[in-house]
Amino acid sequence: MNFQSASRAQLEAAEAELAQQYQAHQSSGLSLDLTRGKPSTEQVELSSSLDGILAGNYISEEGVDLRNYGGLDGIPGMKRLFAETFSIDVSRILIGGNSSLTLMYQSALFALQFGLGGEGSAWNQESGEVKFICPVPGYDRHFSVCEHLGIKMIPVAMDENGPLMDEVESLIKADPMIKGIWCVPRFSNPTGCVYSDEVVDRIAALAGIAGNNFRVFWDNAYAVHILDDEAKELADVFVSAKKHGTEDSVLIFGSTSKVTFAGAGVAFMAASSSNLAAFKRHLGFSSIGPDKLNQQRHINLLKDATGFKAHMTQHAAILKPRFDIVEKYLIEGLAGSGIASWLKPQGGYFVSFDSEPGLAKQIVAMAADAGVKLTPAGATFPYGHDPKDANIRLAPSYPSLEEIEQAMAIFVVCVKLATVRKMLNA
Ligand SMILES: Cc1ncc(COP(=O)(O)O)c(C=O)c1O
Repeated sequence: MNFQSASRAQLEAAEAELAQQYQAHQSSGLSLDLTRGKPSTEQVELSSSLDGILAGNYISEEGVDLRNYGGLDGIPGMKRLFAETFSIDVSRILIGGNSSLTLMYQSALFALQFGLGGEGSAWNQESGEVKFICPVPGYDRHFSVCEHLGIKMIPVAMDENGPLMDEVESLIKADPMIKGIWCVPRFSNPTGCVYSDEVVDRIAALAGIAGNNFRVFWDNAYAVHILDDEAKELADVFVSAKKHGTEDSVLIFGSTSKVTFAGAGVAFMAASSSNLAAFKRHLGFSSIGPDKLNQQRHINLLKDATGFKAHMTQHAAILKPRFDIVEKYLIEGLAGSGIASWLKPQGGYFVSFDSEPGLAKQIVAMAADAGVKLTPAGATFPYGHDPKDANIRLAPSYPSLEEIEQAMAIFVVCVKLATVRKMLNA
C-alpha cells in the first residue's frame, strides 16, 4: 500500500493491524542484533589456517628473520600483495599493524601536529580552526577521530555517485582551513555507493583549489568486498591526482580486517614518497616495527591478487544470502509505500535506510523494545546528529540467516507503524 496516497480510514486500519503485529513481536522475547559491521564466525573461519601456517619458517624470502625487530614500513612480500590486489605502485605502500583506522588516526594526528609536507606544514600552526569535509551518512569512527583531535566537521550530502561535489568545491574554495575530506569510495559505509569516475577525478583535483596541505583520506576499506560480480569498478585516484599535479594530497588506506581476522589482520597505507617519508619519521618514535610474522602468515595464506580474490569470493558466498534477506524484506514490506528509501549495495557491509524525516530515533527505539538492536540513529553523522533524523544503518553480516529474517520482519513493522502513527497525528 502507498501510505502517502492512502485515506485516513485506510491508515487507521493499517495502524490497528500493525499495532497487533508489533505487540506479537514484543511478546515473543527475541534478542537480535543488527548493529555490528563485523564478519561472522563462518567468515573468520575461512582464515583459520593462519594459525600454524608458518610451520617454524621464520625467515622471509629476502632472508630476514621475521622474529626480530625492524622493518618499520613492512616486508616486501606484504607490500607486493597489497600493491597487486589494490593496483597501486608497490613503492607507495607502507604496511602498518592490524588496523587501518590506526593509520588514519596517526596520519591526521601527524598532519595536525607536525605536518606531512615539510617544515611549517602542520595544520595547527595556521591561525584558524582546522576543518574536514565529512560526506554523510558516513563512518562514525572517522567522525570520532576528528572530534578527538578537535577538527571541526562539515557534513556534505552524498548521492549514488558519492559526495555532492559542487558543494564540496564551493566550501573548500571559500575556506583554506578545510584541510581534509573523508572518503569511503567503493561500497561506502553505510550507503554502499561507488564513487563515479567524475567524482573521483574532482576529489583528486581538490588540492588545487584548497588551502595548503590539504589531504584526501581515501579509506578504501571495502574495495575488494564484492557481493555482485557486476559491481561497479572504482577509478584510480592516483592516476587523476597525477594528471592534476596533486599526488601529495592523496592518502589511501585499507586492511585485511574483513578478509582474514578482524582483530588480527594487516593494514596498509599508500601515498606519495614525500608523505611516506614524513609519516615514517613520526611513526619511528612510537614503534621499532610492526608484526612481520603476521604479514608472512598473510602472504602464505593469500599468496597473490588471484588468491586474494578467490578468498573474497568465499566471503561473498556467506554474505550475499544475508544481504538478499534484507533486500527481500525491504522490497516486500516497503517498496512502493512512499515512506522509505535505500540503495541496494553491490558490496561492503551495510544497507543504508532512510525513513520519513523525524522517525529514525523512534524506529530504532521501537525495534529495541521488540528485541532488535539497531545502530543508534544519528551515528552515521558528525556529532551523532542527523538533522533529518531519517538514516538507519543496517548491518547484516554477523547474525545468522534466521536471525536476519526475524529482525527484518520486526524492522519493517516498526517502520510502517511509526510512519502511520505520524501521519495520523499530523
Ligand atoms: C569505512 C571503514 N574504515 C575502516 C574500518 C576499520 O578498519 P580496520 O579494522 O582496518 O581498522 C571500518 C570498519 O568497520 C570501516 O567501516
